Amino acid sequence: MKIDVLTLFPNMFNDIFKESIIKRAIDKKIVEINIHNIRDYSNDPHKKVDDTPYGGGCGMVLMCQPIFDAVKTLKNENSKVILLTPSGKVYNQTLAIDLSKKKHLILICGHYEGFDERIKTICDMEISIGDYVLTGGEIPSMVLIDSITRLIDGVIKEESYQKESFSNNLLDYPTYTKPRNYEGLEVPDVLVSGNHREINKWRIKKQIELTQKLRPDLLKGEKDYD
Ligand code: ADE
Repeated sequence: MKIDVLTLFPNMFNDIFKESIIKRAIDKKIVEINIHNIRDYSNDPHKKVDDTPYGGGCGMVLMCQPIFDAVKTLKNENSKVILLTPSGKVYNQTLAIDLSKKKHLILICGHYEGFDERIKTICDMEISIGDYVLTGGEIPSMVLIDSITRLIDGVIKEESYQKESFSNNLLDYPTYTKPRNYEGLEVPDVLVSGNHREINKWRIKKQIELTQKLRPDLLKGEKDYD
């Protein structure tokens, strides 16, 4: 998969993909991540990328020209163009799985007070990472890249994410490691029983119990992300 990010702050991405699983996916050429400075696509002699809003109001608005030209340059027939904005569709694991199957993503990070509404006409989708407002789309695009990359074939073992939180609308079951007794806190007996049928039954029971207690909305399908 190829991911192109359009941002006014490319330095924010300097180290984020140089560690751990994402680094390995890049090294193995499973994913290619390119960070583009929106300013580089500006036609303005002073590389201007934003201007005051029509109708008045505070702050500066990201202009159409640099974004339109950047998308025109980067886009091909396999591209999905995504705008990160608090008013977008709320991101979840189902969407991450869907996007992990795409060949090319172009992520547009909005900034300052906003962006010219007409930018939406060249986007296939608008995504929000949650109901709060960040200073820009950079951190949201990092969230997308991290959550999508780990799901691409060959990045991590499939069984690692088959039973994790949110797959099957359930939270993950509790896990433990050595020692069996830590300052009086015991590991549940079933996990050291060696009986894998019972262990699986216990894990499913715990998933249901935890989801009922902590995220009943997942069980009822109340969270409608579509
Ligand atoms: N830009 C600012 N806040 C955002 C959010 N919550 N999701 C996506 N993009 C954003």
